[in-house]
Amino acid sequence: MLRLFPDLSDDLLKRLYHKGAHVHWTSEDIDWDAPVALDGRGSLALARVLSPVYLGEQSAMLGAANVLPQLAMAGESTAQLYLTTFIGDEARHFEVLTRLYHRLGHQPVSIRALPAMLRYHHRLRQGDRVDWVWGILISDLFAKNFYQMFAHQQENLLFGAMSQRILVDESRHQAFCDHYLTNLMPHLGPERRKALRTMRDELLAIMEDMQAVLGDDAEALGFSGQEMLDRVMADVTVHARRIGLDDDPPPTGGRAHPDGETVDLAARRRQRAQEAAERPSQSATVRDCDCTVCPIAAICQSRIVRRAAAR
Ligand SMILES: [Fe+2]
Ligand SMILES: [Fe+2]
Repeated sequence: MLRLFPDLSDDLLKRLYHKGAHVHWTSEDIDWDAPVALDGRGSLALARVLSPVYLGEQSAMLGAANVLPQLAMAGESTAQLYLTTFIGDEARHFEVLTRLYHRLGHQPVSIRALPAMLRYHHRLRQGDRVDWVWGILISDLFAKNFYQMFAHQQENLLFGAMSQRILVDESRHQAFCDHYLTNLMPHLGPERRKALRTMRDELLAIMEDMQAVLGDDAEALGFSGQEMLDRVMADVTVHARRIGLDDDPPPTGGRAHPDGETVDLAARRRQRAQEAAERPSQSATVRDCDCTVCPIAAICQSRIVRRAAAR
């Protein structure tokens, strides 16, 4: 696992590492005197719609630390270097959002009220380093669309300015995921790629479940959660094509594969909504799980999440 003299070739990941190392910032660089400009309902709505993203920042930080030894085992030295800056990025996103919650005067929505958050991060932690990078890319595309809305809508306000900073970091994360997965994809067999497509559909379906709960809060902030989700799905389709995930040989009839980009997004959404309606017991399973064996116990047993869950 440890290599005395590893190959640190001058590739894109090493350049991303240099970029990430040069642009570190912390909550102390945020202008906390900037106005929030939200009334009581708006502050609560922001605290609620931000919850999955906030949990995602923590999950990404912990997941990267978990994946780092796998990269070492695979001899992926420049990916290891890059991931250290990724962990730092997610750590500061986690920190500034925590401070934002204090400024808003609200806590994240509880896991009990939104168990889909726990399901999402449980799904993200399954599999190996390839699954994790693919799941992180999907999560980053969700985060990108989320932060972009506020970067435009609240350009001169506290959260808008914060979102602009975070987006710069997230763009490096996407570049890493694209590059890493593009290089690995030719080495994955059809079954492995199919499993990654299944993972994509499962994560998107869980996002739909979260949107169903948080849609009113999004509207209170002046945007459509469903339209944002449509943009996320379109982005995921573009990136799946870019990394070669859809490059399986056509089974019959010339379509790339049954769940490829030619499938209408609305039809896929209807299918996911139906599947979500048919699995009500999953939420109960998550609520009743034994957190001492849960792979993301570090998150759900954290002080903030436990305090939020107790509300
Ligand atoms: Fe982040
Ligand atoms: Fe990220």
